[in-house]
Amino acid sequence: MTVMNDSIFIGTSNRGFAQQAQEELRRLLGQSVKFEWLAPGEVFVFTSEFERSDTIGRILAQEPVFLRHMQPVDATQPWNGTFDHAIHYIHEMLVAAGASVKQMNVAVQARKAEGEALASLSLPSVRSSVEEILATVFEANPVSRDADLILSLYFTEAKLYFGLSRPQDNLSDWSGGAIRFRKEEGQVSRAKFKLLEAEQAFGLDLSQYRSALDIGAAPGGWTSLLLERGLRVTAVDPAKLDATLLRHPQLTFFQKKADEVSFAANAFDLLVCDMSWSHRQMAKLVRGLLGALQPGGTAVITVKLMHKKAFQTIREVVSDLAPELELQQAKQLFHNREELTLFLMKQV
Ligand SMILES: C[S@@+](CC[C@H](N)C(=O)[O-])C[C@H]1O[C@@H](n2cnc3c(N)ncnc32)[C@H](O)[C@@H]1O
Repeated sequence: MTVMNDSIFIGTSNRGFAQQAQEELRRLLGQSVKFEWLAPGEVFVFTSEFERSDTIGRILAQEPVFLRHMQPVDATQPWNGTFDHAIHYIHEMLVAAGASVKQMNVAVQARKAEGEALASLSLPSVRSSVEEILATVFEANPVSRDADLILSLYFTEAKLYFGLSRPQDNLSDWSGGAIRFRKEEGQVSRAKFKLLEAEQAFGLDLSQYRSALDIGAAPGGWTSLLLERGLRVTAVDPAKLDATLLRHPQLTFFQKKADEVSFAANAFDLLVCDMSWSHRQMAKLVRGLLGALQPGGTAVITVKLMHKKAFQTIREVVSDLAPELELQQAKQLFHNREELTLFLMKQV
């Protein structure tokens, strides 16, 4: 087992956006930060010249847009690919971590590289064996949510990576930042997960708003969530909303394009927009309706990332929406594909 004295982490982004995540890390940690791929385009090891808590502090102070998850690496171990070998070494590493897990609520999160060599390694079996060791040997309490500590395991063909950390230091307390919502029966669209995730990622409580404008609303996943949260919703889309929503007493639907509607000044305290349009077109359409958003009101907007010029795209949208809307946070959510989500507020 190699115990790490350097400040080493595994970073994860959405697939295809790891280069952007690495660029952000270079900006936060300096050009000396080193990278090594674990899953090209998605998962990588990064080594920082700053000590661990300083590295985490720098990243949390200016949360990156594309780095979805990070986990520290306390130790690595070459292994022969067999289940028993893995469990044996994880046990050893836990002995080395010793007192820190005792009587703690510990979540075990295990991931593996893709490929044939690891196809037969069952992560649920790894998790349940490690949970049993944690409970019986270390008097820890294995949990899946609300943990005090996360035990992160990552398997490649050659190595096992092991790390213990506080959930708040991982950017997300979900394994690899892959936040999962249960699909409900009759759910109108998967797009609903994007707004659910945005609500958590940006620390919003949607039920605190009274009246929302949903631009590009069909088939109605976002609208359905806003209605569930108790808001009055005005939905705009040239396409049809799901029939189950149309009867809702709190909903007003305009089957029109965004530039064919207008609303009274300050009619809404929340504006959401999930239009599949080029970012500049989208910004123009949103600008046209900004008078209807109250000063201090919130906007949650999905931005398409065309041609991967991600940072330029963010700069352009933010400048197109300024000065009325001020950026609070930009984040590529797990449920975003070739896009990211902006949280903005209207100037008071
Ligand atoms: C990704 S879908 C929105 C999904 C929706 N948020 C949900 O949860 O079901 C994008 C929508 O934008 C709409 N759209 C495209 N151009 C538009 C425009 N000019 N004005 C309003 N809506 C538009 C499309 O008709 C489409 O329904």
